[in-house]
Amino acid sequence: MGVGVSLHPLARAVANEGGVGIVSSACLDRLVSKRTGKKHNTYEATYEEISLAKTSQGFVGINIMVALVRDYENSVRASIDAGADFIISGAGLPLGLPAIQPPKDTALIPIVSSARALELICKKWERLGYRPDAVVLEGPLAGGHLGFKMDQIDLESNKLENLLPPVKDMAIKYGDFPVIVAGGIYTHADIVRFIRMGANGVQMGTRFLATEESSATPLYKKAVVEATEEDIVVADKPGSPCGLPFRVIKQSPMYQSSLRKLRAPKCDKGYVLLKDSEGKFTRCPAKESNENHFCICNGLLSSAGYNSEKEESLYTVGTNASRIDKIVSVKTVMDELTGKTAVPSAL
Ligand SMILES: Cc1cc2nc3c(=O)[nH]c(=O)nc-3n(C[C@H](O)[C@H](O)[C@H](O)COP(=O)(O)O)c2cc1C
Ligand code: SF4
Repeated sequence: MGVGVSLHPLARAVANEGGVGIVSSACLDRLVSKRTGKKHNTYEATYEEISLAKTSQGFVGINIMVALVRDYENSVRASIDAGADFIISGAGLPLGLPAIQPPKDTALIPIVSSARALELICKKWERLGYRPDAVVLEGPLAGGHLGFKMDQIDLESNKLENLLPPVKDMAIKYGDFPVIVAGGIYTHADIVRFIRMGANGVQMGTRFLATEESSATPLYKKAVVEATEEDIVVADKPGSPCGLPFRVIKQSPMYQSSLRKLRAPKCDKGYVLLKDSEGKFTRCPAKESNENHFCICNGLLSSAGYNSEKEESLYTVGTNASRIDKIVSVKTVMDELTGKTAVPSAL
């Protein structure tokens, strides 16, 4: 989970319980530099975070968003060099991922929301001499950015269970690699249901957001614990400058400021900048005005405790955040997910 929520403490804790821990690459240069008091560039910070997350149990890898164009290649190189077990990459199509550097023992795993997107990736990767080691299929109930247009989010055909069969067929067609489903999975029973439907694994975010080991701020975790179904909305206008629908708790201070047209634009982080016609990273819709786009870099960094006193927070969650009613340890969650302990009956 992005921007400072899933750092080495959470990823390592999940791996220690026999799971697959995922560090987020987003903004690691600033987050690690602040934590260590020593300036780290993207490569150094990514290498450091992966190294700290690795443990003798389970597996540890990294999520690197395609939308973070400026830092993408350095994040990938550092992850491979640090021996990450895998790189998961979405928020855009990771068409060039295998070409950046030979991945050695690091598995390359794209995230898609349709069979069509998976086919595009498989065809491109085939030309690069690579086959996905697995794929994450993310449905519309997930947190963060969603791979659907606003009017497609609620379509019956886009429910995760309906997206799975064609994506599974595509994975079989291109080499029978594992399909990992994500978005709205919450209980042991959910996991069993999707495995029975043909999934080979699940990826979960929201369930771990308010764990003790998550690096979300106490205010973020409190907002998750208190959120009701009505509080969770998909932000579009104002929305993410990355151009994808983005699920948030509607009371998030930065979302409210954008809605009320209160925030003056300021670009001082630049993680989602795109190149201009001269090849310089200068373009972001949130640079000019915060009425249609919030400043996602500052909002999410603030939610992870970076400059929280100066910048308003933006709380992203999956739809299941409304089911979370207390902060618990990763072990407690993992024991429930693996079926060692029963989920409270109210869930
Ligand atoms: C707080 C939060 C941050 C997230 N950040 C990212 C991210 O940086 N990159 C990404 O690919 N997915 C991100 N996601 C999506 C998760 O990786 C995951 O696929 C999704 O949330 C699964 O659905 P669930 O939250 O219902 O379990 C994020 C989700 C949450 C809740
Ligand atoms: S305007 Fe804000 S969101 Fe856009 S690149 Fe700059 S700091 Fe990031």
